[in-house]
Amino acid sequence: MTIKAVRGTRDLLPPETELWNRVEQTARDVFSLYNFAEIRTPIFEDTQLFARGVGEATDIVSKEMYTWEDRARAQSEKAQSLTLRPENTAGVVRAYIEHKLWERPGLQKLYYIGPQFRRERPQKGRYRQFYQIGAEVIGPPSAGSESPARDAEVLEMLVMLLQRLGIKDWTLQLNSVGSPSSRPAYNEALRQALSGVVERMCVDCQRRAVANPLRVFDCKVPEDQPIIETLPRISGFLDEADREHFEEVRKILRATDVPFVINDRLVRGLDYYTRTAFEFTQGSLGAQNAILGGGRYDGLSEALGGPRAPGIGFAIGEDRFVMALSAASDANSVASAPSAYIAPLGSGMNLEAAKLARELRLAGIRVELGDESFRLKKAFETAEKLGIQRVIIVGENEVAARQFAVKDLKSGEQITVGRAELAEKFQSGKRTI
Ligand code: HAM
Repeated sequence: MTIKAVRGTRDLLPPETELWNRVEQTARDVFSLYNFAEIRTPIFEDTQLFARGVGEATDIVSKEMYTWEDRARAQSEKAQSLTLRPENTAGVVRAYIEHKLWERPGLQKLYYIGPQFRRERPQKGRYRQFYQIGAEVIGPPSAGSESPARDAEVLEMLVMLLQRLGIKDWTLQLNSVGSPSSRPAYNEALRQALSGVVERMCVDCQRRAVANPLRVFDCKVPEDQPIIETLPRISGFLDEADREHFEEVRKILRATDVPFVINDRLVRGLDYYTRTAFEFTQGSLGAQNAILGGGRYDGLSEALGGPRAPGIGFAIGEDRFVMALSAASDANSVASAPSAYIAPLGSGMNLEAAKLARELRLAGIRVELGDESFRLKKAFETAEKLGIQRVIIVGENEVAARQFAVKDLKSGEQITVGRAELAEKFQSGKRTI
């Protein structure tokens, strides 16, 4: 029996990986314009981090985590429950606390790129190992971390990234989920509204209604939706400060030409959110159309035992970004062929071809190297299949004369070029990615 990639995971192959690299490079470039720097945190963490950070009642923690008991192997080690990260905000905030990043000047503006793991039902656009490009702005309130200007700046940065990548047909859905002070009254109102109707809802909703009624909005069961539509919305429960904060975010967004729609059902599937919450959806993707999501998490640091450190951030579903991009363009168009194929001709010529390939590569020219066991016809055919237009023939006579035959497979023309001129010739005809 052959071994296959595990369900919900997949291999990313060329030429599609070129598209992934382009997305990542563009994100790095845009983040750098806004003065973000990269953070890399471990792929697995103490299970407690997610239980306390993301929330026990969320689907992510209660159903979707890859968790295992890491047994002690030595006296010095402790047995520990570990989890593959289902998201990275909790990890970043843990690192912020662990390394006392608040002692550094200003706000911490950190971005990350990497795999996340959730045991969801795999389907188009939904994987068990998926990739996120995320960023977080976090720091003490005195550094301006609570300001609505940060929310608006992060959203405007995302629009800049979408525009640079040429992703169109997106919608920014925006809501405020209020601060912890307004939450108890809202939870109470939800509980009341749910009593009497929750028996007709799915078992998950029955559990949510008791544990954390806000999570009822995560329900995807079609039969439950008419009931959910009748529930009170959080927008009616915001206090004065929440309302002002939200109004200011919207003002700056209008001033910076960031279009948005208000969606007062949007509460996001993680418990740490406060005030601004958002999602970008994209038209070409079908059911899994949320290409990124994020929001404010003013109490997360304290929930994890750290100092007061309000923050806001987002995570892009990179798999879905790439899908949106490849729906709009031909993935092959980003791939490019090497400038030349070096064909060693006859025994002993691998050595000479290696020397020439090295010379050209040192000059920054991308070349593919054949093998002396290939006959010339096979070398030409291989080059053609790889989309390489020109073949440099390396035979005994050529090496002795320091002159190489260069065959253009498109025109059929063959010319002789001196070794010293070769690099220059290919540089001028160099194709860029
Ligand atoms: P999230 O909404 O859970 O937020 O995930 C963000 C994005 O990751 C989603 O919008 C989606 O594009 C992508 N995504 C999630 N699950 C999958 C999956 N199974 N397969 C493919 N893509 C997926 C967070 O993770 C928060 N940490 C975002 C954040 C950062 N909030 C504040 N800072």
